[in-house]
Amino acid sequence: MTTGRNAVRVGLLGCGIVGGATARVLTEQAATLSERAGVRIDLAKVAVRDLSKPRTVQLPDEVWTADAWSVVKDPTIDVIVETIGGVEPARDLIIEAARSGKHIVTANKELLSTLGEKVMGAAEQAGVDLLFEGSVAGGIPIIRPMKESLAGDRVTRVMGIVNGTTNFILTRMSETGETFEAALGEAERLGYPELDPSADIEGHDAAAKLAILASLAFNARVVASDVEREGISKVTPEDVAAAHELGYEIKLLAVAEESEGQVSARVNPAMLPRLHPLAAVRDVFNAVFVVGAEAGELMFLGRGAGGGPTASAVVGDIVEIARNVATGGRATGCTCYRDKAQMRPPHEANVRYYVVLSVLDQPGVLAAVAGVFAAHEISIASVRQEGIGEEATLALITHVGTEGRHDETFAELETLDSVRSIDSRLRVVGTAEA
Ligand SMILES: NC(=O)c1ccc[n+]([C@@H]2O[C@H](COP(=O)([O-])OP(=O)(O)OC[C@H]3O[C@@H](n4cnc5c(N)ncnc54)[C@H](OP(=O)(O)O)[C@@H]3O)[C@@H](O)[C@H]2O)c1
Repeated sequence: MTTGRNAVRVGLLGCGIVGGATARVLTEQAATLSERAGVRIDLAKVAVRDLSKPRTVQLPDEVWTADAWSVVKDPTIDVIVETIGGVEPARDLIIEAARSGKHIVTANKELLSTLGEKVMGAAEQAGVDLLFEGSVAGGIPIIRPMKESLAGDRVTRVMGIVNGTTNFILTRMSETGETFEAALGEAERLGYPELDPSADIEGHDAAAKLAILASLAFNARVVASDVEREGISKVTPEDVAAAHELGYEIKLLAVAEESEGQVSARVNPAMLPRLHPLAAVRDVFNAVFVVGAEAGELMFLGRGAGGGPTASAVVGDIVEIARNVATGGRATGCTCYRDKAQMRPPHEANVRYYVVLSVLDQPGVLAAVAGVFAAHEISIASVRQEGIGEEATLALITHVGTEGRHDETFAELETLDSVRSIDSRLRVVGTAEA
């Protein structure tokens, strides 16, 4: 069936890294995209904040405006593509666009991971499509596979490297032995981090993406504040070297899993066995590793940021909407039919740890340390001792136990006279156990 439409008019909000690349692809590939969509796709309006800024894409003067609201309210526009970012004014613009009957494409993880319910609710109520493939892991197709291709499966775990900057930093630390600060400096020189690097370094960006992935995986809404979060600034070259000796790589991992009706979601630096597929994901690359009850292990790999990769995802969404406009079809809407996810209390999450203790090199220390682990029912999988004069280092890996029991164990270890300090503690992920 066709609706007899011969053109779909797009209003683009924002023309920065993602919006600029989106405008470029829409104009350069106009003929091919129209063939694929079955209808012409016209970039009718582009709203920016500052009209005097130089742009990477050449468009007729009448296309540009500094008034995003005029685009959202323009009755001749069919699709609003929001690439402004942040919560406001993006939220109000999207809600107004939906109310005016316009379909929406956005790459805004910050908005979706906090107020996704509001904007998706507005789209649902208005009967318009809202697509967001670019919001997680840039150019990697992951939203549509999770929503559609895996709709026949039961996802039990999603695990990802979803922040390119931190993966670049950890790759440098792993391959050159340099410190976190030096690797961050190199990332900044190459322009990878956000203006405020803490969004990357402290795991906020990864937590937002994990909230979106977990909501799709478990059909229940998870928001960014549900995600336990720890950044990578405390990872040391010594941690990296020790991980290598044990056959691991350290990665900032975003992990969400569901068991017994409860969801747990966390972002933290973790030791991953070198043979795990995610351990081979280097530099700014992203990857999402999904475990389905039927499909088993799947991995999606690619460039998680940048204009071109994200525009690939955004334009794919525009083409899907254009096809729907041409045929009278609809995209798959919000899949959180279970509403709010029941989150597992963090202390009940099952985890494994690698922990390094500075201890006095004297008889009985190992027995005392092992006794504390045993008292909290945490069993030890491996232990390595290195002694230098009076002091020694103990590096232990635990078997699976709850976060709460591990916390209690570490707190009690710090009270032992023979333990000087806990120098490092990192989760161990991706083994047969956890
Ligand atoms: N950058 C990436 O690699 C990437 C990857 C995946 C997803 N995303 C997401 O994509 C979105 C855009 O990111 P970006 O990196 O492209 O940002 P950006 O380069 O900072 O671009 C933002 C654009 O929005 C415009 N803008 C800001 N306020 C506006 C307003 N009130 N009205 C109209 N236009 C306004 C700016 O105008 P001026 O140019 O005039 O200042 C600029 O063109 C964000 O949600 C981000 O999280 C980005």
